[in-house]
Amino acid sequence: MAIREILKYPHPLLRKKAAEVAEFDEALQTLIEEMAATMYDAPGVGLAAPQIGVSQQLLVMDITAKDEEPELIVLINPEISEGEGSELEEEGCLSVVELTANVKRFTKIRVKAMDSQGNPLDFIAEEWLARVIQHEVDHLKGTLFIDHLSSLKRALYKKKRRKQLAEEKA
Ligand code: NI
Repeated sequence: MAIREILKYPHPLLRKKAAEVAEFDEALQTLIEEMAATMYDAPGVGLAAPQIGVSQQLLVMDITAKDEEPELIVLINPEISEGEGSELEEEGCLSVVELTANVKRFTKIRVKAMDSQGNPLDFIAEEWLARVIQHEVDHLKGTLFIDHLSSLKRALYKKKRRKQLAEEKA
């Protein structure tokens, strides 16, 4: 299974609003398999299609612990219809290298989406799962977790990243 390249901030495709998935064909199933392989390889708990340069509303997640059976979650055209509670907790992102920071998220959300076959899903997610879904759904809107930080923290990260990229080129 092909491992895809994960785009890193400040790649412009990470900022693009993803289009709805309309066709549940074989190409979509291959894309899902490649996204899952890429996520497990990274390793990460979630990956959104824009992170591999595919501007479609598709995400994969697996929040099980290392010693548990893997359990892949696939959400297509997801929508967070309700949210309640709020909690500050540390997040990182495969596209935002060398940074973790506390981000405020709902603790309980209602999610409407489709599965890999196009069947409708409607469920309540809480705690860590709710957090991962909110983080990944943000990616589909072109939003990164650094957008939830203070402008000072964001500016510091931008500066650090610019320096890092300049050093890579040198
Ligand atoms: Ni992310």
